[in-house]
Amino acid sequence: MAIPITERSKRMPLAYPNTPMDVDIQLDLKDSIPNWRGLVPDVESSYPDTSTLQWRISEKRGVSIDQVRVTAGADDALWQLITAFLEPGLNLITTSPCFPMIPRYVAAAGGELKTCQWLDGDFPTQSLISQIDDKTSVVLVTSPNNPTGRCIPFDQILSLAENASNSVFVWDAVYADYCNQSPLKILDCVPNSVIVESFSKSYGVPGARLGFAITSNPEILERMAQVAQPYSVSTGSLALGATLLDQETEFSSARQKIIKNRELLQNWLQDQGISVLPSDANFLLVRSGSATEALTTCEQLKKKGILVRSFAPDSEIGTYLRVGVPYTNEDLALFQSAWMEVTSCQ
Ligand SMILES: Cc1ncc(COP(=O)(O)O)c(C=O)c1O
Repeated sequence: MAIPITERSKRMPLAYPNTPMDVDIQLDLKDSIPNWRGLVPDVESSYPDTSTLQWRISEKRGVSIDQVRVTAGADDALWQLITAFLEPGLNLITTSPCFPMIPRYVAAAGGELKTCQWLDGDFPTQSLISQIDDKTSVVLVTSPNNPTGRCIPFDQILSLAENASNSVFVWDAVYADYCNQSPLKILDCVPNSVIVESFSKSYGVPGARLGFAITSNPEILERMAQVAQPYSVSTGSLALGATLLDQETEFSSARQKIIKNRELLQNWLQDQGISVLPSDANFLLVRSGSATEALTTCEQLKKKGILVRSFAPDSEIGTYLRVGVPYTNEDLALFQSAWMEVTSCQ
């Protein structure tokens, strides 16, 4: 099935090719400053080559190498997708509240953002479908969602995607490792689909700025490459990514611990009479009495050295705080006692 092509992309040259690994002397792109051996590891004297990590990801996910694109965080993947497929006159459809970078990327691309509200309760599949028109070039779901933490049932995702057959269908799955849902099967069902994943969330290394996209249609990745900066992922991050993939067992049990603590924290907050949205991610959205109360709690926790996320008071989630699930039992206990102290004074 054809993918939407923007006027901008028709005017753009193709992207830089990735440098193949088996070259002896690279005289095209390599910087000509001599490699000061001993000071600079050999690997850093060339521009980064994503192909090893790309291959490792493809092996792990059971897809072919040309279905994978490594990016500087999931952010970079989303930015590339939106920049490649949106321009003035075209729109992107998603739910609100959403990951706050989405509206920014859509605005930067000059496109229109169309949203349906989804905070709690059933996913608004039919409302989203009714928003799709012939100018919709991207439909994006985030499951589990940020900032609410909710997972979208797969049949609802599929039904939405099937009604978006003239658009690129993006599933931001950066929190998928914290729930029982694998996004991969969408690739077999939806011809123009893309899954976005993040090492920040799956392996706890946001500083590495490492993410990737997996698609059912490699032409989508070519379009992304057209608008991307060349070599945006550093050699160090690529090497770290390959090492992390080797340690899946350890990371899987670390994620299980977070899932367990999520349940403990959610139950504890509910026992205190606090309303918490059910979460399938590594954070909880916790309700305060009012937007002012939410901001005060956030400020007072900060004074105690604990950072939680507040939102603009006039937004649909102004009365909520987003609390990341602590990993250690000590941090969980510290959060609980700070929360008790702060909220008992209000
Ligand atoms: C839903 C969602 N997508 C993408 C990202 C970006 O992740 P990364 O750190 O890999 O750029 C985030 C970060 O918080 C997120 O919440």
